Amino acid sequence: MRNSNRQWILKKRPVGDIKQGDLELVEQPIPVPGPGQFLIRTLYLSLDPTNRIWMSDMEQYMPPVQIGDVMRGGTLGVIEQSNNPDYKPGEIVNGIAGWQEYSVAGGAQKMAKGPAPLPAYMSVLGMTGATAYFGLLDLGKPQPGETVVVSAAAGAVGSIVGQIAKLKGCRVVGIAGSDEKCRHLVKDFGFDACINYKKENIRAALKRECPNGIDVDFENAGGDILDAILEQINMKARIVLCGMISGYNDKQPRPGPSLTNILMKRARIEGFIIIDYFPRLGEFLAEMSKWVAEGKIKYDTTVVKGIENSLSALNMLFTGGNTGKLLVQVSEE
Ligand SMILES: NC(=O)c1ccc[n+]([C@@H]2O[C@H](COP(=O)([O-])OP(=O)(O)OC[C@H]3O[C@@H](n4cnc5c(N)ncnc54)[C@H](OP(=O)(O)O)[C@@H]3O)[C@@H](O)[C@H]2O)c1
Repeated sequence: MRNSNRQWILKKRPVGDIKQGDLELVEQPIPVPGPGQFLIRTLYLSLDPTNRIWMSDMEQYMPPVQIGDVMRGGTLGVIEQSNNPDYKPGEIVNGIAGWQEYSVAGGAQKMAKGPAPLPAYMSVLGMTGATAYFGLLDLGKPQPGETVVVSAAAGAVGSIVGQIAKLKGCRVVGIAGSDEKCRHLVKDFGFDACINYKKENIRAALKRECPNGIDVDFENAGGDILDAILEQINMKARIVLCGMISGYNDKQPRPGPSLTNILMKRARIEGFIIIDYFPRLGEFLAEMSKWVAEGKIKYDTTVVKGIENSLSALNMLFTGGNTGKLLVQVSEE
């Protein structure tokens, strides 16, 4: 056992790319477990794109790491000493012990040693595998024969997304940053195609590889890649906004609507066209007529007289000259 606990402390919030000095490696005494506690030696530390988010004070799904605190990180560790009869030395536990060699806890999730090597429980059988599984199946709802596109496709989440989509009978097109990654995904992981976004024109390549359009986008990259994908989606496509790593090091928010907030708040953006509801107009009329008759719904109309005024009246919609529904009265009732 080492005689000190090396830990990474967040010294300042990175601006742009993470730089030397934003975090500092310090040595502290190994913590001593108190009554009911146990000492964990970290075996594996998970490094995730979201670490960059946690270092910032942007809108996010957990409180940011505070300056001066040990950097947060998912871990798998082994119990070294224990003052808790429920936790025995040698047992493996996972948690968020952070970027440090040792930590103490009073409770932790135990991990039964399964048939897979330990790192698998931090990837395909851990958080990134679960992200791929639930994100794709619950939100993406891939159907046999559909086309699924996944960005950061050779990464921890993306590589599993693509393979699950294949198991569901989809055409799977990955987007990754090198020919080697692309070759690997097609040859070893069964992707139908993979686009090297650093080399190819992404729009043209998507057109070529998704001849029937895109039904599911599992979005890990955001930015230009997301833009290109959105241009080629099909009716009722599902966009799983899982991550937008291309923007994590941005110094300024990008122009345009803040999709980050959509992601962090698990909000939904969904296209809507009323013609899809024409078969249900009867339902609407029955309820709305009643509300209007009972005075529960009020309505305004702005009526412009004379068909010759149609064009100038149309402009009222853009100047705000109307209140409520704008109509032209073409002839007397
Ligand atoms: N919503 C959730 O609960 C959740 C959970 C886990 C992860 N995530 C998100 O899922 C995404 C993938 O995470 P991961 O853990 O699996 O990481 P990962 O994909 O294993 O690693 C990140 C990869 O992103 C690619 N990348 C980096 N900058 C890029 C850019 N500007 N444009 C396109 N690709 C870029 C790089 O591969 P290339 O060589 O291909 O560029 C890099 O290897 C991230 O956006 C992450 O935030 C979300």
